[in-house]
Amino acid sequence: MRERDHLPPLEFATKIATLQPTAPLPILGKLRHAFSLEFGFEHPVMQSEAGQFLNRLRSSGMEIDDPYPSPQGELSSASEDVDGQLVAEAEPLCPPLPVPAGVLGSFNLRMANTGRAILSSRGETPFRLACKIASLESGLASEGERTDLLIDLPPGRGITQPVRFRAPETPGRYRLSVLSLLETVRWLDELCSFEIEVVPEDSVVGDVWNPTEVARDYQSDHVHAFDLLWQWLGERRNGTSAILEIGGNRSPMVGHLGVPAFNLDVDPYGLMTASILAGRSGHVTHIVGDGMNIPFADGYFDAIVMFATFHHFPDPIGLLRHLRTKLATDGRMFLMCEPIGHVFAESNYVGYIRELEHGAYEQSFQPWEYAAMIREAGLVVCDNVMDVGSAKIALRPA
Ligand SMILES: C[S@@+](CC[C@H](N)C(=O)[O-])C[C@H]1O[C@@H](n2cnc3c(N)ncnc32)[C@H](O)[C@@H]1O
Repeated sequence: MRERDHLPPLEFATKIATLQPTAPLPILGKLRHAFSLEFGFEHPVMQSEAGQFLNRLRSSGMEIDDPYPSPQGELSSASEDVDGQLVAEAEPLCPPLPVPAGVLGSFNLRMANTGRAILSSRGETPFRLACKIASLESGLASEGERTDLLIDLPPGRGITQPVRFRAPETPGRYRLSVLSLLETVRWLDELCSFEIEVVPEDSVVGDVWNPTEVARDYQSDHVHAFDLLWQWLGERRNGTSAILEIGGNRSPMVGHLGVPAFNLDVDPYGLMTASILAGRSGHVTHIVGDGMNIPFADGYFDAIVMFATFHHFPDPIGLLRHLRTKLATDGRMFLMCEPIGHVFAESNYVGYIRELEHGAYEQSFQPWEYAAMIREAGLVVCDNVMDVGSAKIALRPA
């Protein structure tokens, strides 16, 4: 952390202060001082997540300049086929479970550009992904659906990229390989491969999820999810339970519980703003930290809560495993307002792509991926509501 040699403009602090109309004037000085601090995180994802507060104010319609603008270079949009420079590494987040024969499916690939050139899906020779599926019995292979990258990937950048595949019509065991190619130029490397089981369509058993047809906007979905949290917490709202929210930023939902709670977030600006605006009032203790490494003893928490935050972690299974160690034996974990389904480049989901381009770690999971991650982490689902595009899931240690 370092302190810059000049404060941000008064006008900037005035805008931030309007988040709380009754804020007394002296807080402007405190806000200017808070935003004059500069924080360096080792990991580029954390560095970019640490700037979420201002990003989110802007996407909610507030016009607010950068307090310390820095020149932004434009990326060139073409993948250049210079020998050995287009290199990527990838692994499936969760390999697909038994897949119904003939369906068009997709799974999340965690991939990174480990070469020296930009991987771009734009231009005349786009970098693409393709799935090849070969029967383990007959060896016959088919090379199917192509997938464009969600964004241009500069060297070093990693994302979670959903990949499409068409399951074979004949049940059996297959090897699914993800290949990369420069369209119209040449095939590049195989990125990863794993076995899948294709089963008759009518033999796939149902899962634990309770889907609804209800779609809400961001705000009302949070209000509804808070009501569910209130209900699911039950007697854990007794004022003596240890409750942690991760990713609550400037407006943690646990602040509405009316009992003491912690809010841990990697964004120091959102937390400093929350603390400065709340003054001495409020039940929430704000902590700047990484959800992957929380500074509490194992078994400490009766409840760990996340709202629209779980999907911002590049290693979501690792996160669940870590948080499980921090839960009391009969503790609960709540994943609220988490996206459902896969977003592709053609989905034209402008906000999602913009967040990715800003460096945020956006990703979205299918219900079977939630189930697989939860199982991998040694947790089980106690309650859930799967609204349109928004999962609310209560978990406990298995
Ligand atoms: C999409 S925002 C959600 C904010 C708020 N909970 C809501 O529902 O609107 C995701 C939050 O996760 C935080 N975050 C991202 N990575 C984190 C990490 N490694 N540790 C702690 N917080 C993190 C970001 O700073 C951000 O505040």
